[in-house]
Amino acid sequence: MRDDKPPANHDDLDLDSIRSLDEFEQLSKSRLSAMAYEYLTAGVADETTLRENRNALERLRLLPRGLVDVSRISTAVTLFGRQHESPLLLAPCAYQKLFHPEGELEALLGATRAGVTFIAPCFATVTLEDTAAATSQPLWFQLYVNPDRAFTRELIQRAETAGYEALVVTVDVPVNGPRDRELRAGFSLPPGLARANLLSLGAALASAPHRPGGRDIYSVVRAPDVTAKDIEWIKSVTRMPVIVKGLLHPDAAEQALRHGADAIYVSNHGGRSMDTVPAAIEVLPHIVRRVAGAKPVLFDGGVRRGSDVFKALALGADAVAVGRPFLHGLAVAGAAGVARVVEILWAELAMTMGLAGTTSVDAIDESFLWESTSGTSRHQPRA
Ligand SMILES: Cc1cc2nc3c(=O)[nH]c(=O)nc-3n(C[C@H](O)[C@H](O)[C@H](O)COP(=O)(O)O)c2cc1C
Repeated sequence: MRDDKPPANHDDLDLDSIRSLDEFEQLSKSRLSAMAYEYLTAGVADETTLRENRNALERLRLLPRGLVDVSRISTAVTLFGRQHESPLLLAPCAYQKLFHPEGELEALLGATRAGVTFIAPCFATVTLEDTAAATSQPLWFQLYVNPDRAFTRELIQRAETAGYEALVVTVDVPVNGPRDRELRAGFSLPPGLARANLLSLGAALASAPHRPGGRDIYSVVRAPDVTAKDIEWIKSVTRMPVIVKGLLHPDAAEQALRHGADAIYVSNHGGRSMDTVPAAIEVLPHIVRRVAGAKPVLFDGGVRRGSDVFKALALGADAVAVGRPFLHGLAVAGAAGVARVVEILWAELAMTMGLAGTTSVDAIDESFLWESTSGTSRHQPRA
């Protein structure tokens, strides 16, 4: 085990020579402790869904339109009334000090430099107030509903007071899943690291084991009884738009919207919550159909190329997040690594748009996807 090895900055590394997100993953392995690397990369159980997230994206084929003037391409989108220069977001990922000594603050610096929105995780190793104080860019906060609802309310209000612009409520881990690889690597929060936002509940809870052993399937820091009524309740205690993350069932998405959700974030937690659920990209169009344009649909899971972002947009996503890739960037080169990861993805998205023959995100639709069975695009664009 290399668990005593501190994450390091590598100023001598020529980041411009790194061409793809996969290269960041290869580089991060040698820069992280075995435990941190396993925590970062692992999925749940047999990792079927983890693999499927990638495989399903790779299976999708693009069909360029051609004969289109692409001399001006805009990747801009509008979300909750604010214009973003790209549809890219950094997904909420816990415990970022495992990957860099400055943790979330360093990742946020990278996001700010790159011009994308950072979703601060509930289980951050830096408080949400310190995170908000470190940027003037818009920030979103991810919430795990705590078993203590009074504390949950306090947390929501703290986020609102600190200026967060949206609340991402993650609902796909009501109980722990069997993360064998992570457990085998002996994952635990190293001394000195805690869930900084939970410190007012006491140091013991803030640094309580990530997953209890034996037959205990519950987490002491995540409520197992979150229902649509909680979405309604959360809506009643905040002015922030509420985005529900981790719904895969179209009925549940519809239910969340009925109870006031402002957006649905399609995600299988990067293959980390329940194994053998479908790839997130396969679920996406089903949710999009049910939401039917009423509210934005966000997406993550397996995105490693700009063409993957394009495919998610084609299937109806309004914004697309990455998790592991920016953590690899963080591990390899801190803020500069995060910014380079975003830069690569963003440039690839613009290239895919140009090559496909479209100049705005709004115009990316299923007509750019090849339907191999019928030998046409999924929807024939009108001539
Ligand atoms: C190390 C790690 C920690 C994560 N922690 C959280 C978390 O605290 N809350 C949450 O909603 N999702 C969490 N996720 C899931 C991500 O938000 C996102 O859904 C997932 O990483 C997307 O898949 P990708 O890694 O293939 O991009 C985590 C993912 C990783 C890799």
